[in-house]
Amino acid sequence: MWNPSGIEGLPESMRYLHHVVLDFYGKLEEDMEREGRSGCGLFAKKSMIVTAKAYLQEAKWLSEDFVATFDEYKENGVYSSSYLALLTGSFLGMVDEGTLDVFEWLSTFPPLLVTSALIGRLCGDIASCEFEHKRKHVGTSIDCYMKQYGIEQTMEKREEAGEYHSKDFEWEFLKNIVENDPSLSHHLHHHHQNLSKYLPDSQPWQDFHSRHSSGKFFKERRYLLKEFPELVSCGENSKLLEIGCGNGSTVLPILRGSKNITVYACDCSSDALVRTKENIDRAISSVDNFHSFCCDFSTSEFPDWVACDRCRDKFMLNHSGGSESKHCIGGVDFVTLIFTLSAVPKERMPRAIKECFAVLKPGGLLLFRDYGLYDMTMLRFEPEKRVGFREYVRSDGTLSYFFCLDTARKLFTDAGFIEVELEYCCVKAVNRRKGKDMYRVWVHGKFQKPFYN
Ligand SMILES: C[S@@+](CC[C@H](N)C(=O)[O-])C[C@H]1O[C@@H](n2cnc3c(N)ncnc32)[C@H](O)[C@@H]1O
Repeated sequence: MWNPSGIEGLPESMRYLHHVVLDFYGKLEEDMEREGRSGCGLFAKKSMIVTAKAYLQEAKWLSEDFVATFDEYKENGVYSSSYLALLTGSFLGMVDEGTLDVFEWLSTFPPLLVTSALIGRLCGDIASCEFEHKRKHVGTSIDCYMKQYGIEQTMEKREEAGEYHSKDFEWEFLKNIVENDPSLSHHLHHHHQNLSKYLPDSQPWQDFHSRHSSGKFFKERRYLLKEFPELVSCGENSKLLEIGCGNGSTVLPILRGSKNITVYACDCSSDALVRTKENIDRAISSVDNFHSFCCDFSTSEFPDWVACDRCRDKFMLNHSGGSESKHCIGGVDFVTLIFTLSAVPKERMPRAIKECFAVLKPGGLLLFRDYGLYDMTMLRFEPEKRVGFREYVRSDGTLSYFFCLDTARKLFTDAGFIEVELEYCCVKAVNRRKGKDMYRVWVHGKFQKPFYN
């Protein structure tokens, strides 16, 4: 209904807009009558009403937290795409072509209009659905399709989209919820299980990698170069050591995106190194800037050829980077610790970080990303899985520690690093099927080795 008195029900802020819209259409009708196209303005109004009604339907679904079926969504989407309003508007401006019979034809929703409207609606949703999931918005065609056909989008996919430096909520907000929930109190107190219940060595990871021989378990971390742009802007002949490379989730995007870097990768599991190499060979045709070696950095030193004292000293005298000798690469410009430190027993972390410090060139950067305190995965651990304060053991024997900023800061600065960046990355994902909010927390950090001791 085109009802000027509808203004009564509107909030103050919208009354002016309502007035402008009605005034615009009123003048439009007058103009069209003068042009000998009387009756056409009415179709313009109708197209506007149809669009507004479709928007209202979406608003209703949103307020009722209802995800329509794909068929219901499409039916409404033909109108909410605004194609009728757009086409009607276009013909209003065409004095010769925009005659009454054209508007009458459009108002019958011919197949051409319906199909174009649907294509527009679906393409728009594909482009915007990741963004829509981060704000309060009606389910898009993708959610509706998944509902109707029982398809579940994996959490990982959503995480990947949102992992890049998001701040969907303040970490203190989650802290407040967790620390005031009696059902979660077992995560908070300091006493814990007997540590002898698990073996703090690398065997569980070796078993893990031999079990997951398809190497597909970890996903490529496509967000990494956005998170750490210095990996792209670095100078030629830069060197990077990825510690705990797994199947290459971190190595791959770096090799793809940064031609200047030679990547060295290590893992405590030799199976992991094989998986990494297979994945690189599959994804990138010829690679001569990748080398790997086996090392448990929580119990052993890195091999001498990474940074022997003599070559590091030479580098300190000559900052041009010409420190490479025949045997030693003279240290690395970057160390990446991406979801690896959390796998190391807490009491061994200080030693492991000192190893990282030792192999970096002066001025080099340690790039850190790992699980944050009160991340959803921490709160899902049962009480008997606790093996230390904020430290848990999975059923396969691998460890997971959850960092707060203070702990991360202390570990790295005690080893001699300077803090460059350190913050929580907080992503809220919504499980629409279960109607539950899921709070993910990661710690993002950059630490620099000083140029001078
Ligand atoms: C969660 S995965 C992370 C893999 C990779 N960095 C990534 O970005 O996905 C942890 C990896 O660290 C390795 N790891 C665990 N403890 C280690 C240690 N003490 N020394 C070297 N590697 C270790 C494991 O084998 C595993 O491949």
